[in-house]
Amino acid sequence: MIAAEALGIGSCYIGDIMENYELHKELLDLPPYVFPISMLCFGYYQEGERPKPRDRFDSKFIVSENTYQRLTSKDREAMFASRAKGINPNNSLGAKNFGQWMYAKKTGADFSIEMARSVIVLIIINPLALLWCF
Ligand SMILES: Cc1cc2nc3c(=O)[nH]c(=O)nc-3n(C[C@H](O)[C@H](O)[C@H](O)COP(=O)(O)O)c2cc1C
Repeated sequence: MIAAEALGIGSCYIGDIMENYELHKELLDLPPYVFPISMLCFGYYQEGERPKPRDRFDSKFIVSENTYQRLTSKDREAMFASRAKGINPNNSLGAKNFGQWMYAKKTGADFSIEMARSVIVLIIINPLALLWCF
């Protein structure tokens, strides 16, 4: 993705390819036990269009030097402070902080439920069906 960006080619990582396994298996003519985990889309930007980089965490929280840096609760609070500002304290998910809000949002979403179903079909139901044949 970085190399493509350097050439002026935009890209998007697609994790949703893990959903609807049965459909993607047929579309991509996948052999048994091949599961699509990620997909990369590439394309040219429209004339003069270029996305603005979004805010990033301060590097002091995400860069470890020589040994792995373990963050304290205080560090994490500081790391997420600007994102936490966007969370309504009376949010409908009942989340008390940004982490809880993001977790509830992702795990409760339709896409996440479908993704879990799709993975279960491949790793549990399909092998069982195969065993049944013998
Ligand atoms: C693990 C992962 C899965 C993603 N899956 C999708 C996807 O299924 N569909 C999509 O439109 N974008 C997907 N994206 C792209 C994000 O929506 C977002 O555009 C991208 O991460 C760039 O934003 P950022 O620079 O803030 O990370 C995914 C990104 C990541 C890191």
